[in-house]
Amino acid sequence: MSDLKKLFIKTYGCQMNVYDSERMAEAMAPEGYVTTEDAGEADLVLLNTCHIREKAGDKLYSDLGRLRALKDAKPDMKIGVAGCIAQAEGAEIIRRVPMVDLVVGPQAYHRLPALVRGTDSPVDTDFPVESKFDLLPARKGLRGPTAFLTVQEGCDKFCAFCVVPYTRGAEVSRPVERVLSEARGLVERGVKDLTLLGQNVNAYHGTQNGADVGLAQLIDALAKIDGLERLRYTTSHPNDMADDLIEAHGTQPKLMPYLHLPVQSGSDRILKAMNRKHTAESYLRLIERFRAARPDILLTSDFIVGFPGETDADFEATLALIRQVGFGMAYSFKYSARPGTPAAEKPELPADVADARLQILQALVTQQQRAAQDAMVGQVCHVLYEKVGRMPGQMVGKSDHLMAVHVTDATGKVGDLVRVLITGASTNSLAAVPVV
Ligand code: 5AD
Ligand code: SF4
Repeated sequence: MSDLKKLFIKTYGCQMNVYDSERMAEAMAPEGYVTTEDAGEADLVLLNTCHIREKAGDKLYSDLGRLRALKDAKPDMKIGVAGCIAQAEGAEIIRRVPMVDLVVGPQAYHRLPALVRGTDSPVDTDFPVESKFDLLPARKGLRGPTAFLTVQEGCDKFCAFCVVPYTRGAEVSRPVERVLSEARGLVERGVKDLTLLGQNVNAYHGTQNGADVGLAQLIDALAKIDGLERLRYTTSHPNDMADDLIEAHGTQPKLMPYLHLPVQSGSDRILKAMNRKHTAESYLRLIERFRAARPDILLTSDFIVGFPGETDADFEATLALIRQVGFGMAYSFKYSARPGTPAAEKPELPADVADARLQILQALVTQQQRAAQDAMVGQVCHVLYEKVGRMPGQMVGKSDHLMAVHVTDATGKVGDLVRVLITGASTNSLAAVPVV
């Protein structure tokens, strides 16, 4: 009988959680755990949770309900809750669902092996002084051509609706050398396309030989790694955009023409109530500067509709901003009150008003997304193949603008970065053929 134990991780929420889940799997590997896609055969189930919106929280408890049958059939199975709900609710989760064996917050993943062995108390939601990253094992094993790399964590912005400053803590940046060595390791294992992650990634302030290094300088240092072809970063706040980062979009060829820049609302009154500390006008000016540096940059954003006090006129201002910018894609959400945040004290709008606004906004954004996709037809760009397509002789990957592309290429291999001509478009994907 093998000593190997099986680990099943379910990841909810953002790309930071995807990255953290990968690191948790790596932390458990020396303990003899290999990952499985089947929760039923797992010895350890980890739910890496998201707290940002109401539905994310409801999902955790319904998933725990479903896991009960698996645990009844396999009483040795351990169940752990990680991520932002773990951080926010701590021991409350075990009180509510006693079959949960351990609760571990995002800053304590390096202590996961001890929690699973049962040598530490079952709840760890500390914010340790030492960085968890330095205490986690190096990243090993073969992987695909794209990867995330966390360079910054936490947020000091305290937008009135958001739990992140409470669950992820204050802004912390990883030192430049640590980021570079993790990136080199990933490139050695075949990664060509790296997305730098941070809740406030453009507030990155690392150090190198005692000097302060901002995100643009970090990107330049990473771009020197041979074999690393593409860089992106997410998520940014409009108020932390440094001049050299905007410039880098025009001068650093490995920095892709893509920017995710959440605006949340187009109404200055609502932006103020949200404590965003920028205006619609300052956002539009910023966008103009990015477009001056890199005319073909594709912009994406996040929107919240139905924030407390949002009037029809406020919502119209949001639609006007969207029409003015022209987004390639956007995530839009109906406001949901998060306990402990300032906005949660305010009276909510009727659900049907928020629902109707969300539909209108999403229809407008979908129309813009379709226009951005259509505009690619006839253009030549690069696609990094991530997998084999469903059709024979087809490869699937992402373009420079992060659009999904299906390429007819019978000799293509995963990891190839290929020049293609875009021949067709739908709302969610493009069709292409290789060109020399
Ligand atoms: N309600 C709805 N959406 C929210 N977001 C963050 N907090 C809330 C909330 N309480 C959205 C924001 C943010 C994205 C990650 O989630 O748009 O940019
Ligand atoms: Fe939340 Fe605002 Fe920080 Fe983004 S900038 S993580 S929305 S508090």
